[in-house]
Formats: sequence, structure tokens, C-alpha cells
Amino acid sequence: MLEDLSQHVLDIAENSIAAGASDVSVEIDEDEAGNRLSMTVEDNGHGMSPEFLSRVTDPFTTTRTTRRVGMGIPFLKQSAELCGGEFILRSQVGAGTHTEAVFARDSIDRPPLGDMPATVMALFMGHPEINWQYIHKINGKEFSLSTVELIEVLEDRELLRTTEVGLWIRDQVKEAINAMRNGN
Ligand SMILES: Nc1ncnc2c1ncn2[C@@H]1O[C@H](COP(=O)(O)OP(=O)(O)OP(=O)(O)O)[C@@H](O)[C@H]1O
Ligand SMILES: [Mg+2]
Repeated sequence: MLEDLSQHVLDIAENSIAAGASDVSVEIDEDEAGNRLSMTVEDNGHGMSPEFLSRVTDPFTTTRTTRRVGMGIPFLKQSAELCGGEFILRSQVGAGTHTEAVFARDSIDRPPLGDMPATVMALFMGHPEINWQYIHKINGKEFSLSTVELIEVLEDRELLRTTEVGLWIRDQVKEAINAMRNGN
């Protein structure tokens, strides 16, 4: 059972990686005034056909051979809809996929956001071959971090695997979120 949104992010980003994406963007948007919290994962992976797309929210649809039932998407959809939000899935074969879950922020059933700094660290460190972009918006303020920019400074993509760089990334995200929460 998934407990928080950051775990859904890992799960949905895992789908993008499995789809052979080279570019994946993850966005969290927190809007107190609008009472909305959304997470969006966008990739340039192989996409899904319209026919597959229409079945994918059904838990008995999966291309996995190890396990019959894929639960990532149906579970996130159910959670968003239970929380007065919506689930949006758009995909085009050969172009990519947009997966978005919107929640009413104040819904008592809404999963907590969880540890996004650790999630970003895990994604960047675990898959340095992907061009990641992380965007976090809080009440109109915005923070963004991309591995393309980081690699320009590091001069070596593989350094993204190192604990030192991973922890630095985690701290950057943590500080940015704190600053935005404090209205800075
Ligand atoms: N971003 C994506 N690009 C291409 N295909 C996708 C994408 N996301 C999901 N799919 C397709 O939809 C199927 C269902 O995804 P879902 O996350 O619900 O389950 P799963 O990944 O198969 O299994 P689980 O997430 O439970 O390990 C995937 O097997 C894959 O075929
Ligand atoms: Mg999945």
C-alpha cells in the first residue's frame, strides 16, 4: 500500500523509465488558495496506443510479464478521485506520456506529500542516464532543478550516482521547499 504522494511519484516515474524515456519531468504544484495539490510526470517514452490508454486505468491491464496486475495507475487514479480531484492521462505512441493526479488539498483522505527531497535524490542518483527536470511550485513560487544543468557543472553524468552529489541535490530541494513554505 502506498502511503504518500512521493511514493506515487517514484512509481509513475518508474513507468516513464520502463517506457524508454530519455527526458522525464516531475512537477509538484501546491496551491493553498485554490485548495489543490497536483503531481505531474511527463516523459518522451514510447507512449501508449489509444486502445491501450483506454484500458490502462483498469488494474487488469499491464504489459508486465512477472506479475499480472499493474496497480500504479489505477491506485493513483482512485486516490485522486477519492480526494475530490481528478486523474489525467494523455499519451501518444512514439511521443510520450503525461500523467497527472490532482487532489483537493484539504481532503482528509489526501495522502501526505511525503519526502520529495529524498525522492528527487533517489530518481537522479538511480537513473543518471535520464535528463530529469524537477519543478516544485508552492502558492505561485517556483523552484526547478534539471540534471542537464547539473551535468554542465559536474562535467560527468556518472557523478550523479555519488552519495556526495545525491545529498547535495536532496539539500537543495529541501532548502528550496522550506524557503517557499516560509514565503521567501
Ligand atoms: N509513461 C508511460 N509510458 C508508456 N507506457 C506506460 C506509461 N505508464 C504506464 N504505461 C503502461 O501502462 C501499464 C500499467 O502501468 P501501471 O503503473 O498501472 O502498472 P505496471 O507498471 O504495469 O505495474 P506496477 O506499477 O504495479 O509495478 C504499464 O505496464 C505500461 O505498459
Ligand atoms: Mg507502474
